Amino acid sequence: MRILAIDTSCDETAVAVTEDTKVLSNIIWSQASLHAKFGGVMPSLAQRMHEERIDWVVDRAMSNGKCQMSNLDAIAVTIGPGLSIALGVGVDKAKELAKKYNKPLVAVNHLEGHILSPFAETELKISYPCLGLAVSGGNTLLLKINRIGKYETLAQTVDDALGEALDKAARMLGLGYPGGAILEKFARSTSSGQAQKNPYSLPIPIIGHEERKIFTYSGLKTAMYRLVESEKPLTKEKIQNLAACFQNAAFTHLVRVISFVLNHKSYSIKHLLVGGGVSANNELRKRLRKLGKEFEINILFPYTKKLCSDNAAMIGVAAYFHFQKKI
Ligand code: KG4
Repeated sequence: MRILAIDTSCDETAVAVTEDTKVLSNIIWSQASLHAKFGGVMPSLAQRMHEERIDWVVDRAMSNGKCQMSNLDAIAVTIGPGLSIALGVGVDKAKELAKKYNKPLVAVNHLEGHILSPFAETELKISYPCLGLAVSGGNTLLLKINRIGKYETLAQTVDDALGEALDKAARMLGLGYPGGAILEKFARSTSSGQAQKNPYSLPIPIIGHEERKIFTYSGLKTAMYRLVESEKPLTKEKIQNLAACFQNAAFTHLVRVISFVLNHKSYSIKHLLVGGGVSANNELRKRLRKLGKEFEINILFPYTKKLCSDNAAMIGVAAYFHFQKKI
C-alpha cells in the first residue's frame, strides 16, 4: 500500500511516502531554530510556519518518493495529541488532497505512530501481547499491545513528559532548546557521568501504587532547579555533572516503572517497542537493553535516529496497519 502521510503535531512539518512498512521518502522541515529564542514552542508561530511550508514539503516528499498522486492508495494524517492549531494545518491539507484526488483518508494517533515506528524500514516479526513505550517531548506512555490497534495503558505521564523534563533541565543549565540531545552530550562528556561517581544526587520519583503506575517528572524538575541555583555560578564541569545527574534520575525512574510492570505481569512478553524523540538517547538505550536482558525481552528501537523524533513515515506505517488489520 502506498500512503502519503502528514504530521504537523508540533514544530516539524513532516510528510512521507510509505509503501507498506518501507519508507520511500521522509521529509522533515524543522522549525526548532525559530522557536529556540522563546525557549519552547510558540503555537501561533508553529501554525504560521506549517501553513507556509506544507505545500513545499508535500511536493518534496512526492518527488523524493518518485510518486504521483495517482499511484497513492491513501492519505494519512496525525489527528493528535499535539498542538491543536498546528495539527489543524496537516488535517486540512490531508482532507484537501483526499478530496481532490479521491483517496481514502486515515486518521492516526501520533503516539501510536511513535510506538509502531520500529516497524518502519524493517520486517519485524513480533509476538503478542508485547509492550510499547513512547518517550517524547509531550508524552511518556507505556502500553500493553494485545495486537496492533488494541492497546491497554499500563503507565502514563501525570505531569511533565520525559522529553519536556530533559528540555527544562537543559534550559536551567543554559544549554539551549530543544535540550535533550545537548544534555546527553554534556552528560556523556564527564568522567563522572556514572551515577556513583557523580558529586550530585537527585531524588528518584515515585512510581505510583499497585493499580496505577505513573511517570512523573515535575518534582524532579523542581529538585533540579534548587540544586542548580545552589551551585551557581556554573562551571563546565558542574554542568556536565548536573546533566549526568538529572539524566540518571530521569532514566532510573522510567526503567523502574517498566521493571515493576514486568515483575508483576501475568502475561508472557517477548518484545518491547520503543519510539519517540528520547529513544535516540544512547544512555537510555543502554539501560533499556540491560532491562531486556534481565527479563529476556527483545527491545526494539526505530531503525534510524531520524525515525525516533517526529516524522510522518511512522504515521504512514501505522496507517498501513490500520488498513491491513481493518482497525
Ligand atoms: O518525539 P519528539 O520529536 O516530539 C514529540 O512528539 O514530542 O520528541 C522531542 C523530544 C524533545 O524533548 C527532545 O529534547 C528529545 O525528544 N530528544 C532527546 C534526544 N533527542 C531528542 N532526548 C534525549 N536524548 C536525545 N538524544
